[in-house]
Amino acid sequence: MKHDSQLERLVESLAKHGVGAVDVAFVLGSGLGEFAERIQRARAIPYAEIDGLPVSGVKGHAGRLVIGELGGVKVLAQQGRVHLYEGWSVSEVTRAVRAIAKRGCRRFVLTNAAGGIRPEWRPGLLMTIRDHLNLQGRTPLARDEAGYARPYDEGLTAALHEVAKERGIALESGVYAGLLGPSYETPAEIRMLAKLGADAVGMSTVAETLAARACGARVAGISLITNQAAGISGERLSHEEVIAAGREAAGRFSDLLEHAAASLAR
Ligand code: HPA
Repeated sequence: MKHDSQLERLVESLAKHGVGAVDVAFVLGSGLGEFAERIQRARAIPYAEIDGLPVSGVKGHAGRLVIGELGGVKVLAQQGRVHLYEGWSVSEVTRAVRAIAKRGCRRFVLTNAAGGIRPEWRPGLLMTIRDHLNLQGRTPLARDEAGYARPYDEGLTAALHEVAKERGIALESGVYAGLLGPSYETPAEIRMLAKLGADAVGMSTVAETLAARACGARVAGISLITNQAAGISGERLSHEEVIAAGREAAGRFSDLLEHAAASLAR
């Protein structure tokens, strides 16, 4: 990748704050930050106290790192991320993930709120990301960081499905289309995405996944379907609806991740 001096600053700052090699790092999407409250022996570090970390202005993101333990393994949760649509560059969007990987983390669970493209999917549904369509018009990968045939790790994803089954949590699997945003799509765009093979649509995750893979980490992705995508239900979409669906599903989402932490680390 292109040299990013801010990345070095961030890695140093994480070291100063005692953020070491965690077993699993969770990046929490809009409305999904509550999961961090499940972390035991937790210590929260506000983003404002961390050098080199871009800070989001989007509602529904707390803006802190929480480190601690879950199920006997060391975990970190990134409560809030920055988005390309806020005007951040692709290296800024992926800087936290790269820095956490450089601190020794080898497993990431990247989560997001997404619109459901499959007509039978209702708000509140959870989906693991099997693959993605990068429609953001940019990649975080440099020429020496070749693409990856399978960005989402089958073993980590299988571990999530196993825990979901044990706990009776419905968990689908699908292809995530990552768009630039910030506006929601038109019905015609959603019909196009369905033809391209997408099951869900959102505005994050794809760049972070590719960057984490380029750093040698394994990645699982989870989308919370917060709304039916444009034209599927005919209702107008709003950021408030996305946040509200996140709150409603937060318990199930947090249960899944809490109980999966130990098997994700194996
Ligand atoms: N489209 C794009 N991004 C989203 C959506 C959507 O319908 N819902 C939540 N994030």
